[in-house]
Amino acid sequence: MAEINTAVYDVIVVGAGGAGLRAAIEAHAAGAKTAVICKSLLGKAHTVMAEGGIAAALGNVWKEDNWKIHFRDTMRGGKLLGNWRMAQLHAQEAPDRVLELEEWGALFDRTKDGLILQRDFGGHRYARLAHVGDRTGLEMIRTLQDHAVAQGIDVFMECTVRHLLTDGGRVAGAIGYWRQSGALVLFRAKAVVLATGGVGKAWKVTSNSWEYTGDGMAMALEAGADLIDMEMTQFHPTGMIWPPSVRGLLVTEGVRGDGGTLRNASGERFMFKYIPAFFRGDTADNEAEADRWYEDKRNNRRTPDLLPRDEVARAINTEVKAGRGTEHGGVFLDIATRRPADYIKRRLPSMYHQFKELADVDITKEQMEIGPTLHYIMGGIRVDPDTAAATVPGLYAAGEVAAGMHGANRLGGNSLSDLLVFGRRAGQAAAEYAKGATAGRIDDAQADAFAKRLTEPFERQGDENPYAIHEELQNAMQDLVGIIRRREELEEALAHLERLRARVARVHVTGTRRYNPGWHLALDLENLIGISEVVARSALMRTESRGGHTREDFPKADPEWGMKNVVSRRRDGRLVLSTEPIPQPPADLRELIGEDKPQEKVATGEPAIIGGKE
Ligand code: FUM
Repeated sequence: MAEINTAVYDVIVVGAGGAGLRAAIEAHAAGAKTAVICKSLLGKAHTVMAEGGIAAALGNVWKEDNWKIHFRDTMRGGKLLGNWRMAQLHAQEAPDRVLELEEWGALFDRTKDGLILQRDFGGHRYARLAHVGDRTGLEMIRTLQDHAVAQGIDVFMECTVRHLLTDGGRVAGAIGYWRQSGALVLFRAKAVVLATGGVGKAWKVTSNSWEYTGDGMAMALEAGADLIDMEMTQFHPTGMIWPPSVRGLLVTEGVRGDGGTLRNASGERFMFKYIPAFFRGDTADNEAEADRWYEDKRNNRRTPDLLPRDEVARAINTEVKAGRGTEHGGVFLDIATRRPADYIKRRLPSMYHQFKELADVDITKEQMEIGPTLHYIMGGIRVDPDTAAATVPGLYAAGEVAAGMHGANRLGGNSLSDLLVFGRRAGQAAAEYAKGATAGRIDDAQADAFAKRLTEPFERQGDENPYAIHEELQNAMQDLVGIIRRREELEEALAHLERLRARVARVHVTGTRRYNPGWHLALDLENLIGISEVVARSALMRTESRGGHTREDFPKADPEWGMKNVVSRRRDGRLVLSTEPIPQPPADLRELIGEDKPQEKVATGEPAIIGGKE
């Protein structure tokens, strides 16, 4: 085997966002020799883009709230596609994880009585999001990072892990490279926790930053693990759209949670036209009632501005397509006329500065121009709900890279609690597994083959430019695998991806391996294209509309499809897709969820529902 520096651990955690750090803390506490490896600098993770809060039924603002209602909201928000056991564990354990974070130093906003304050978010029946202004993800990362470092956990920064090493079907370690020096590195480990986040960089308009290239999903697939429901992508309804340099940057749902309303170019509060029957019991269907809710939080029916994200993003898309959008192709988000300036600056300080500095807009006086931005993927690595174990022994996954918890659509704020609940469970189970396992053998031929693939872009012939290919990929995914999908466009996307894959094989990288971003992108492109293909194929297979997946040619939710996961796996070098039944909840939990099904036509063109009536 070529000379590669090797580090040896019981557990390595790939990814240092909320899930990775929480997993590392738990594995270390359980006595496992643990390292956490980040592609970027420690603390720079998509977790910070969950700004508005951590969903947990603490019951500080609404005494009526409890885990059962949180469970119900999560399952209904996910259009009944979620894994019931994950949703149950999440709802039951989230409050303890928030309190633990507080013990470790997180400084939450407070109620008058000194309890952790909770704010409203879409699809949550009660104000449930523990928050720190609009910087909750940042506070969470800061706290976990301080805690992990204080425990003495090894942290490797600017290291891209690229392939998992296996021994007879179980995980034996991983191989990657240091971004700074370009040297390759091999980690031997009994267990690997993947916490690498999503694949947002495959789309043009996204809240994700450069690190999110589907690495964990691609590595898991290559190692033989299953992915599920990769067609379920989330467009957050509110991203900045102007100026072009900041397009996609997140505008927290906390703006609407704190009273902001959506309006089209004519000033109409259009969300009243888009209330699906499935959510009608929970949603005010006229302005007077919605405004009563803003003023008197005891009014139980929420404003439709706070419908789940899939509904709001589709509604905005419909308004813009129908010519009722703003100059730059979005809609308006107004908090200026709804709340006093000092309230806005206190509750939403980052949004105030973001718009002032990047768009020269004073949100205490003017409306924001916003539109949907690719924010999250609900699909990912299939895991056991209790242990976060993937279908390959020794492999675990938590956070956005894992699937099941959020079904077809994630409720805002459920990501941060997901990271804490399942990060902890993954770390615990990985350490337990490592205790009982001997180290896997490193297969020199496999490691050599991976090492060769890593340096291949320097050896290849060709004149393709990785940046040009990336731009084309982002355009294709945005245009053909976006909010609204149809068969012809998905097939066109797949053909396009094939052509891009052939072009990647002709990318020749020049220069040295030191600080060479062209080389890094050439490697990232393989994952981006590979996972985009899984998304497009899964989207083609699911011939219905549900949550984050809307098919113009199949505009209704189909009860048959509501019982199935789309499973993707690699066998004999080929991507194979199939469907498998979703585990059904026991009777008592089924009763909590309710009997009605999300079957109605979703709004793909003109509104399906006007004035709250079909
Ligand atoms: O809008 C937000 O603050 C995002 C939160 C989330 O994605 O959970």
